Amino acid sequence: MTQRILITSALPYINGIKHLGNLTGSMLPADVYARYQRQRGREVLFICATDEHGTPAELAALEAGQSIEEYCAEWNLKQKELGERFGLSWDFWGRSSSAQNKALTQHFAKVLWEKGFLDIRSTRQVYSRADKRFLPDRYVEGTCPHCGYERARGDQCENCTRVLDPADLINPRSAVSGSTDIELRDSKHVFLLQSQFSDELRAWIGTKAEWSGVVTSIALKWLDEGLQDRGITRDLKWGVPVNAQDWGPNPKGEKPDVEGLKDKVFYVWFDAPIEYIGATREWADAIGKPNEWERWWRGSAVKDVRYAEFMGKDNVPFHTVGFPVTLLGANKGEPIDQQWKLVDVIKGTNWLNYYGGKFSTSQKRGVFMDSALEILPADFWRWYLVANSPESADTSFTWQHFSETVNKDLADVLGNFANRTLKFAAAKFGGVVPSGGTAGVKEASLTTELERRFGIYSAFLEETHFRKAAAELRAIWTLGNEYLAKEAPWTEIRTDKGRAALIIRTAVNLIRLFAILSAPIIPFTAEALMRSVKLDPKAVSWPKGRIADELIVIAAGAPIEDQFAFTKILPEQMAAWEERFGGATA
Ligand code: MF3
Ligand code: ZN
Repeated sequence: MTQRILITSALPYINGIKHLGNLTGSMLPADVYARYQRQRGREVLFICATDEHGTPAELAALEAGQSIEEYCAEWNLKQKELGERFGLSWDFWGRSSSAQNKALTQHFAKVLWEKGFLDIRSTRQVYSRADKRFLPDRYVEGTCPHCGYERARGDQCENCTRVLDPADLINPRSAVSGSTDIELRDSKHVFLLQSQFSDELRAWIGTKAEWSGVVTSIALKWLDEGLQDRGITRDLKWGVPVNAQDWGPNPKGEKPDVEGLKDKVFYVWFDAPIEYIGATREWADAIGKPNEWERWWRGSAVKDVRYAEFMGKDNVPFHTVGFPVTLLGANKGEPIDQQWKLVDVIKGTNWLNYYGGKFSTSQKRGVFMDSALEILPADFWRWYLVANSPESADTSFTWQHFSETVNKDLADVLGNFANRTLKFAAAKFGGVVPSGGTAGVKEASLTTELERRFGIYSAFLEETHFRKAAAELRAIWTLGNEYLAKEAPWTEIRTDKGRAALIIRTAVNLIRLFAILSAPIIPFTAEALMRSVKLDPKAVSWPKGRIADELIVIAAGAPIEDQFAFTKILPEQMAAWEERFGGATA
């Protein structure tokens, strides 16, 4: 059994604050998985970073009137701070512009060239006469040749998710100036020979039965359409320089065209996934163990690493084709102790929409991480986003649905259970866990049902089915409420004080159990629940033995709080937010 778990979430673009769609697609599920695996006692390395190269970053810096370096340094910190406030428990938060990533990116390119998996080709690039520069990727916008979407960007169509070449766009215009005074000019570029890896990729994907349907179908669609070789360099200044002068001859004995490749940088989608490794190296350097990254990524030690990647579905092609080809190519002909680790599990999610339309950074449509935290605690969002995660289909956020979900699940079910228990203990048993009574058949059947649901819940978490896991967790909380309602300690106490004490003691232990089981999804609430029964909020290791043993951990006489307060969203708040964020009219 694998004991080491490597987790990466798709690296958010540096520009701007991320919206709830970004959070729910990659960072949040990765965090739930990381927290769960840590609670299981496994060694976890959870890595994230800002994706800093590429045209969106440059365009945003331009708009902000900052140098790109200044802009990236500032936004890396802002995003880190917001992520931490959301409880994202990264072991390291890196930057794709780091020296470590630069070295690795250049290393991979050199190795791929020397092994014969790169080609230098003369290409036609979009050039803006008005801007006096090439317009790669998002610097050019126009109509998608596949689906007709009019605001497609040069690198990918947001609407149909197809990857594009800027020269394919119909009616191209400059994203810098809006100018349509555009021509095609010759420029030398490096191509990754993906087409050579078609069969190998197909066979590899064929071994991944546990990948979600959306991931496999997107990956296979790409292979079925015929893999294209991909240009991995750009005519830009911001990025990792190609440095072709460092490359040795390829297998045909050819040296690269150093002159033709000077002033070029790697394409952001080439260096960004490499930053998964780069950030691990940044982490190793930061903890003062510079070789530690290798255990996670390279050589024979990686055989007990299980590597899981989390992302929105638009990122799937790059993680099932682009990045694997980089690693497979670099691994060619190498001994086992030099092999790079490839991903085991890719978790891809569909879209979370805002009232049926897209969340949009550029159009400021929807709810963003900063304003979300301004109005409500992180766990409200975490719970809603996990419980409604677009795992099998796109889902839609509405304020109504959001308020109903958190009020019902968190306040009425979980919060209310804890509150009723503690209040009753305070009123009737002097605020300590009461002694007396012995567990009977009612407790046995509660335990059996908990045991069963706990097994299902753990399996869903293990398999990264978080939406189903949340439904199961909700059902577990409900068992607690039903137990209290049926066993009615407030009635029992009149005739059988011992029985009432046993029920409350069991319920107090359920508060602890619920805290532990809820911690992957709503860690702040879990800590508050642990504090309400005066336990160490961090002592949340996953139950190993029988659930019955978990229900006798807190013994008679232990002090507990006299209530557990959980706020509800009021109808007038909801109305105000609908107004402020646009709701259906956004
Ligand atoms: N920045 C990309 C996005 O937000 C994701 C990059 S994932 C990486 O869509 F692996 F390439 F880093
Ligand atoms: Zn399209």
